[in-house]
Amino acid sequence: MANILDGKKAAKEVKAELRTEIEKLEEDGIVPGLAAVLVGENPASKIYVSSKAKQCKKIGIHSEVIYKPDDITHDDLIRLVVDLNKRDDIHGILVQEPLPPQINKLDLNLQINPFKDVDGFHPENLGRILIGDPLFLTCTPYGILELLERNDISLNKKDIVILGRSNIVGKPLAAMIMQKWPNTNGTVTVCHTGTQDVVKHTKHADVVICAIGIAEYLKDYMIKDDAIVVDVGINRVDDSSVEKGYRLVGDVAYEGCEKKCSWITPVPGGVGPMTIAMLLYNTVKACKLINKVED
Ligand code: GUN
Repeated sequence: MANILDGKKAAKEVKAELRTEIEKLEEDGIVPGLAAVLVGENPASKIYVSSKAKQCKKIGIHSEVIYKPDDITHDDLIRLVVDLNKRDDIHGILVQEPLPPQINKLDLNLQINPFKDVDGFHPENLGRILIGDPLFLTCTPYGILELLERNDISLNKKDIVILGRSNIVGKPLAAMIMQKWPNTNGTVTVCHTGTQDVVKHTKHADVVICAIGIAEYLKDYMIKDDAIVVDVGINRVDDSSVEKGYRLVGDVAYEGCEKKCSWITPVPGGVGPMTIAMLLYNTVKACKLINKVED
């Protein structure tokens, strides 16, 4: 049976450390502030954004959720971001994805002040990760690295396979793992729809990180004994036996893999809470940078 990479526990530790930092800032009259923009009615996005706001409040970060309709124009959304850039009480800005098709995501991310880009989606921040001199680390990949580190797992000299090449998980995570940082410095392979034989790669990997959005994709036969398995997915599958009519599962077939691997993240309670914890971390960091507060 595998050890559990407990994201709830690690996130709680990160937040307790942040609370201490925020108390110090409060002594100087400084309150970190996060603005979260939610466009449209996506139910999962609503849950994520309200959870982000709730957790900000819990540790003393001022948070505002700005709701905009699904048919907001690209220019109006840009104007909103430009106004948030100017506000002294807002140190972090995030626009929840997915976004409707009229929004040009690249243009939007370019408009966010890179010093307020607490999601780490701005091309400047992604580029800085690639060259090994980051300002903000993209939250989900950062959460994965932090979760491993807090369980004394180093990626140094390990073979890591990432399933999925999204701009918000797979690509920045690959860029981070290849850096010569403490606990990274691993050899990374990214599999995607152009990969001919996924199992050929996963079967030999010391660590498999699954971020493709396909329910229970990674099966036990695809991994080696004692692999470390990180599940970034959160998918709804129909289940008439429960009142809601659905249950949440990850991208990993948990029951089978859990018997074979050495470490595994649960869903929920694995990577999800760490993404939020690192968003809060980045917001406090942004506040300190803007206010020129030294560590
Ligand atoms: N959608 C899925 N994950 C994220 C995230 O970390 N940040 C934002 N802004 N949108 C997302």
